[in-house]
Amino acid sequence: MAILITGGAGYIGSHTILQLIKSDEKEIIVVDNLSNSSMESLARVEKLCGVKVSFYQGDIRDVDFMDNIFKKGISKVIHFAGLKAVGESTQMPIEYYDNNVNGSLVLLAAMKKHKVKNIIFSSSATVYGSPEALPITENSKTGGTTNPYGRSKLHIEEILQDVCQSDSDFKAIALRYFNPVGADESGDIGEDPNGLPNNLMPYVTQVAVGKLEQLTVFGSDYDTHDGTGVRDYIHVVDLADGHVAAVKTIDKLETGFHAINLGTGIGYSVLDIVNSFQQVSGAVVNYKVGERRAGDIASCYADPQKAKQVLNWQANKSLTDMCADAWKWQQKNPNGYSA
Ligand code: NAD
Ligand code: UFG
Repeated sequence: MAILITGGAGYIGSHTILQLIKSDEKEIIVVDNLSNSSMESLARVEKLCGVKVSFYQGDIRDVDFMDNIFKKGISKVIHFAGLKAVGESTQMPIEYYDNNVNGSLVLLAAMKKHKVKNIIFSSSATVYGSPEALPITENSKTGGTTNPYGRSKLHIEEILQDVCQSDSDFKAIALRYFNPVGADESGDIGEDPNGLPNNLMPYVTQVAVGKLEQLTVFGSDYDTHDGTGVRDYIHVVDLADGHVAAVKTIDKLETGFHAINLGTGIGYSVLDIVNSFQQVSGAVVNYKVGERRAGDIASCYADPQKAKQVLNWQANKSLTDMCADAWKWQQKNPNGYSA
């Protein structure tokens, strides 16, 4: 029986597949419609680990396609597939709800039909909205999300809770990621954003490599140690290992819904990232301070204790590792996978 990985050709999916194979979980089936990725990421994963990955191109909203996938024999699902750009989601709410929420419903219906009872879902710290207290624990209030992307994640979590209520054999782990950055230490797989990056780290690396002229720091008047926004950046390989831990633990977990933060518990500001990146890379990051970005909060970082207790997992990599590996990927692949 294989682990089905939806959206496995993407940034977090490709790193997770590599870590799963390294941990001897080699029976994997990947589905992806390649709307935000290419086959090249999986080709590189295969090269890095020497194992062929079973890949099917298709859309998780395609009922017949998904039915055929489940006929191959699936024991559990890791569900990455979805659209993820916060700004774009405000312009295309229907497409975001269709892809993320409807896509998850089609997946869950196929799981029900084929009696597959275990799912690990890519959720996000965005479900906490504007946190009332820090660090954020899994018992912190959810809601108050400010955009369709964030709301789609919250809706899917609620749907998973309802499915768990309706079926006492069903288990769902919602992994609430904080800010994934970096790349595999080989520099051969990494984040390959389409067009102008929305997120801080790929913007920084593209300025450093000379593809973009200048970073704008969004606001310097937040109530933080240097006035710039604070986030919990987590190395993508640590994040991938969190999924490996979830796969290895899910059989032993009680049935029902489990929300688990994947973060380091440490908050770094935008300027901390810029300074650390410059130090690690030796490159200069040209930046200016601009206005706050609408919808941003001052600070957000995790309490990572539950992941340690339930999954026996914790993040191990440092900010230096995150910057060094992001830089190595950027230098080796200045045009991402389409070099
Ligand atoms: P990504 O865009 O690199 O990967 C998502 C993959 O899903 C892509 O390969 C895309 O082609 C595929 N996909 C999208 N819609 C699909 C569909 N309908 N059918 C089949 N495949 C489809 O994004 P990522 O950064 O790897 O994120 C993975 C998951 O983690 C997403 O659900 C995202 O919302 C969530 N997440 C990401 C972050 C982050 O900062 N990267 C933070 C929190 C949560
Ligand atoms: N920032 C800049 N300049 C930029 C880009 C970002 O100053 O060009 C700042 C932001 O204002 C913020 C920090 O860098 O203070 C991080 O911003 P990102 O866009 O990298 O990440 P966010 O925390 O805004 O969002 C991320 C994911 C979302 C997810 C959210 C909560 O992109 O998908 O974390 O988990 F919803």
